[in-house]
Amino acid sequence: MKIVLSGIQPTNMITIGNYLGALRNIINFQKDNKLMIFIADLHAITKDFNPKELQQNKKSIAALYMACGLNPYDNIIFYQSDVIEHSHLSYLLLCHTYMGELNRMTQFKDKSSKMAMANGTQNIPTGLFVYPTLMAADILLYDADIVPVGKDQTQHMELTRDIAIRFNKKYKEDIFKVPNIYVAEKGAKIMDLQNPDIKMSKSNENTKGTIFLLEPIDNIRKKIMSAKTDSFDNVKYDQTNQPGVSNLIIIYSCLSNKSINDIELLYKNKKYGDFKKDLADIVCNHIKELQDKYYEIIKNVDFDKQLQKNAQICQKIAAKKIDKIHKILGLKVGN
Ligand code: TYM
Repeated sequence: MKIVLSGIQPTNMITIGNYLGALRNIINFQKDNKLMIFIADLHAITKDFNPKELQQNKKSIAALYMACGLNPYDNIIFYQSDVIEHSHLSYLLLCHTYMGELNRMTQFKDKSSKMAMANGTQNIPTGLFVYPTLMAADILLYDADIVPVGKDQTQHMELTRDIAIRFNKKYKEDIFKVPNIYVAEKGAKIMDLQNPDIKMSKSNENTKGTIFLLEPIDNIRKKIMSAKTDSFDNVKYDQTNQPGVSNLIIIYSCLSNKSINDIELLYKNKKYGDFKKDLADIVCNHIKELQDKYYEIIKNVDFDKQLQKNAQICQKIAAKKIDKIHKILGLKVGN
């Protein structure tokens, strides 16, 4: 069985981008693989955060995973910070990562520039800078075979692979498995509904462009109906000239199993209004079903203990790996 591993940060609330780009694809791996899915809480403290909200978001994301069909009794769902080996391996990897590599990370550039603008200073937490090595540690600790992520994480994944290869070469041993990246063909980069030139994100300033999985269904409908399109009034997939409507077509296609071509044909002589109305129905029905399951779980299922048990399983695997690395690095004296 292959190990399929992925994580989501509990920052704000999950968006339809997270769902279509990552979450939904993870579920599809459930049948024939061993899933290791975690709530990346250590990543969430690399920028400004509120401890109370963090705690709530963690539980909420765990329940959302379950609402999407991931069963914590059959799969290993856990909170990252419950397995302290993640941070320890991150340090060991940092000592094998170059400043230049981290400096090139576009997510760091983007997030740090926004932070600098917001607080008017250059006080960027070092944790944000070294965040990619924590992500590498999350993956390499468990010898993951496949890591399903959205497009925005591919640079971090390339770095993870580079670090693993470098480590193995330097110490002349297959210490780490070099993971494969899985990026979905469709939905790997859902764009903002108001500004289709930027990625839809939990933290975009104008929340009108972001669909949150747990927001009221009426809001979602309004956001879709007022999504920015263009003046062509032609439902056509053309990312360069019609980025707004192309983004909506992708969302439609992901949730309806219709191809882009089918959708273009279906709306050939129709207006954007008709298309958006149908899309709103599809998205709202899908999310409503998810929300119903989510509220049922968050109210009635006591999953804390199971997540702790899962973390203990991970901790055992992780401790063995760290022990092996300590030996190789000469950090361990004795047996
Ligand atoms: P995060 O929490 O920002 O996002 C979670 C997942 O959602 C994907 N995603 C998107 N996909 C399509 N369209 C979008 N607009 C969109 N926005 C986000 C992300 O690519 C991601 O797959 N560093 C990671 C979390 C992480 C992780 C890991 C993932 C930590 N350690 C190890 C995999 C393996 C992050 O911040 O994702």
